[in-house]
Amino acid sequence: MNILDVQSTEFLGRHIGPNGKETEKMLAQTGLASMDALTAQTVPSGIRMQQRLNIPKPMSENEYLRHIKNVSLKNKIFHNYIGQGYYGTITPSVILRNIFENPGWYTQYTPYQAEISQGRLESLLNFQTVVSDLTALPLANASLLDEATAAAEAMGMFFHLKNRSENIGKPRFFIDTELFPQTKDVLYTRAKPFGIEIVEGDYKTTPITEAFFGALVQYPNNKGSIEDYRAFIETVHTAGGYVAMATDLLALTLLTPPGELGADVAVGAAQRFGVPLGYGGPHAAFMTAADEFKRTIPGRIIGISEDANGNRALRMALQTREQHIKREKATSNICTAQALLANMAAMYAVYHGPQGLKTIAERIAIYTQIVGEAIEARGFKLVSDQYFDTIVVQVPHTASIIEKAEQQKINLRQIDHQHIGISLDETVIIEDLYDLINCFENDSDPVSFSLSAGETLRHIPESLSRSSAYLTHPVFNTYHSESKMMRYIKYLENKDLSLNTSMISLGSCTMKLNAATEMIPLSWAHWANIHPFAPAGQAGGYKQIVDELSQYLCQITAFDACSLQPNSGAQGEYAGLLTIKAYHEAQGNPQRDVMLIPISAHGTNPASAVMAGMKVVVVKALENGYIDVEDLKAKAQQYQDTLAGIMITYPSTYGVYEETVKEITQIIHENGGQVYMDGANMNAQVGLTAPGLIGADVCHLNLHKTFAIPHGGGGPGMGPICVKEHLTRHLPGHVSLHKAKTIALNGNGQNHQPEHAVIHEGAVSAAPYGSASILLISYAYIRMLGAEGLKAATEYAILNANYMRARLAEDFDILYTNDNDLCAHEFIVDLRPFKKTAQVEAEDIAKRLMDYGFHAPTMSFPVPGTIMIEPTESEDKAELDRFCDALQQIRREIQKIESGVWDVKDNPLKNAPHTQQAVITSNWSHSYSREEAAFPLPYVGHNKFWPSVARVNNTLGDRNLICTCEPVEAYMEA
Ligand SMILES: Cc1ncc(COP(=O)(O)O)c(C=O)c1O
Repeated sequence: MNILDVQSTEFLGRHIGPNGKETEKMLAQTGLASMDALTAQTVPSGIRMQQRLNIPKPMSENEYLRHIKNVSLKNKIFHNYIGQGYYGTITPSVILRNIFENPGWYTQYTPYQAEISQGRLESLLNFQTVVSDLTALPLANASLLDEATAAAEAMGMFFHLKNRSENIGKPRFFIDTELFPQTKDVLYTRAKPFGIEIVEGDYKTTPITEAFFGALVQYPNNKGSIEDYRAFIETVHTAGGYVAMATDLLALTLLTPPGELGADVAVGAAQRFGVPLGYGGPHAAFMTAADEFKRTIPGRIIGISEDANGNRALRMALQTREQHIKREKATSNICTAQALLANMAAMYAVYHGPQGLKTIAERIAIYTQIVGEAIEARGFKLVSDQYFDTIVVQVPHTASIIEKAEQQKINLRQIDHQHIGISLDETVIIEDLYDLINCFENDSDPVSFSLSAGETLRHIPESLSRSSAYLTHPVFNTYHSESKMMRYIKYLENKDLSLNTSMISLGSCTMKLNAATEMIPLSWAHWANIHPFAPAGQAGGYKQIVDELSQYLCQITAFDACSLQPNSGAQGEYAGLLTIKAYHEAQGNPQRDVMLIPISAHGTNPASAVMAGMKVVVVKALENGYIDVEDLKAKAQQYQDTLAGIMITYPSTYGVYEETVKEITQIIHENGGQVYMDGANMNAQVGLTAPGLIGADVCHLNLHKTFAIPHGGGGPGMGPICVKEHLTRHLPGHVSLHKAKTIALNGNGQNHQPEHAVIHEGAVSAAPYGSASILLISYAYIRMLGAEGLKAATEYAILNANYMRARLAEDFDILYTNDNDLCAHEFIVDLRPFKKTAQVEAEDIAKRLMDYGFHAPTMSFPVPGTIMIEPTESEDKAELDRFCDALQQIRREIQKIESGVWDVKDNPLKNAPHTQQAVITSNWSHSYSREEAAFPLPYVGHNKFWPSVARVNNTLGDRNLICTCEPVEAYMEA
């Protein structure tokens, strides 16, 4: 290889774990002669990709960073006053460096294994406390995907709750005209499949009858106006409906909170709590609710429980509500959310404290007041006199003002041709006010204004001024110096096992390397500070990433078009199913609504299908885990006239490449259906096969699995969908793209359509390109690996899995391999026999792995009583061996129970995990030694990871749900 090639393929060696020598040894262990032999014996020949992916040649990390810097400069940083749910914010450097840029936080997995996740669980509990306190509603989740989908979740929750008790015939949902346009767009999309009629109007005048199951208003509203909804809420309640308020956390430091106004639910985004704009995301959204929604609120809830020693311990509460249990009975498909960003927002509140937040809010309100009054003094009218951070100015023509603003590198919001919106944020300084007012100036008088020390807020109505306290808990009143804050973040980080400790072999979740070079550009201002609704001309860098990444993903999937809008895998499923639905409708087949879903599918599949208005019919699996083709054929024929399609995962969730897959897709097509592929397992396809080659019509890709976006402790994620040509015109649209077009077309201000008038299919996310800034990570991954590197990553994912499978097969039953006894990129280990022989459950083994310094693999999915191991390509042989050694040693421990050496109740598995406190206790009474408990293999001593709590009590926390920080007194007693 020449020296230039060595440089450009440098990243390959960084991303892929095993080196040449290790590869040879691992192949030998697996009984294979070469990598080619491995592929030939795992991936069926009929679906193999014959040509090389058409992706540019790889770049070294250095080259990439230069390249992406140049691309970033095509984004123009303007001062944004666009608002509309997205605001400039200052990420405190201590949070930027210690959380956002810290693999100890961003490489965490969703905290299912509570004992090694107490740090982020505590931070997420802080998030819930922040949103609960500020909205004055007791129940909170952590978190949702964006404000618009959170609003849609609220609508869905009201609908299901009412429908369950009253079976509503013609459901109607009221929305106030002054909601953010993107929220309306998503609500219209979500309402349609449920048959919900959205009635849009003025909350003051629209008659509310019993026909409405609920309503949504914005506070402050789309035009910045602070409205008093008390009477309206009462009217809706009297009519038997529920009310949700979309709101702004910073405004709520000054305004009477939704809970005190009588609202049932509050939703919103926590973006302006220190999370960069990033051209639309990722940001954490929230939902808080009254107590009666305890069993129905969507998303993950962190709750307080106890560990085996009676110590306070946190866990994800009510896990049984999660969609993988409820499947088609689920009322939401939320899985991946925005945990990392929720942590950032929580830390922002911890750092500033209640007084700091209030000061920020007051400063913004005073600056807005100065601007508002100065603009009024120049003869313009404001739409409302009651405002916090946003004013809307009525002008004869917007064009000249917008132009003048642009000359000063200022983005104002052009609402229509007579209205300009201006939203201020915490980044605004006094000098900016001159520039802003100057946009409305005649240029003859110099801009001047006065600002006195005792300035009062004249535009926040007395009757809606907040009087109740918030964030009184010590955690929000302690860490205000940087030293304290830094140590608090580190203290929490130390409790959590992340990829910077050891491999996390979660099947179906693909916890691969999230390389630092992929992550670094995200903090750069030219990516971080771009508003999602900035004029397209200012987002040239993002356009290039969106265009190129879309092309690459189409190459990889062998499809024709791509939508980067969905914010998670489940959102991708939903968006993909909507394209199928819209296609059938366009073909004159609206009755096609039956979706076949194999029994082994992830729970989000049926949940998404139901949300898309489809009926789920389950297809059986054979003993070997393959889809039962006979059953499939029979059902496809039975539903021939109403078949919408099938959702399949490939390789299947059992970890095998079914040879029958082409036959399956053919049967569906022959019966008039479309094939949806869940791309969660694309890590085993890239470069070797593709959804398009298998016969699928649409698929989603989990960029947070296959394409290196970190899991962030449960989000962010991205679930773009790729489709075949015939589905292209049914991809999601977005009001902002449509509006930009409309304004451009109707420059004279005539015939301007209302903002929600979408011509494409509706939006599925608040921002047109979802969480755009993290697209950079996947883009970097593809550009640095290139076609060969991407393919090699897949091959090594398969090799690593088969190496571990071969090693573990000596001690465990491995379920579901192909005819050559090989698995795909993951495999399932059967732990059920140990229940009979030693009363050991899968959970005991998962917890015991913590004593060995490992996170458990995926538990009991897709088969109860098993673990599913996916090592990914990024782990080297030594790490794989350590993990296998640990599991094999655990097997020997089980033997000791089986043979009666250890008691079935008192043994290291049942008592796992062992905390430091448990091991150093002077009254050690177990029949095994402390060494056996905490240092069961020599390697453990070199880098011991201590779980911070003992086994967490799962039922206690659910019986008595506490999802905010305890009152101060409880804290002091603890
Ligand atoms: C097979 C499969 N499908 C869908 C999903 C849902 O993806 P997300 O969590 O991004 O919504 C998952 C998540 O783990 C999965 O494993």
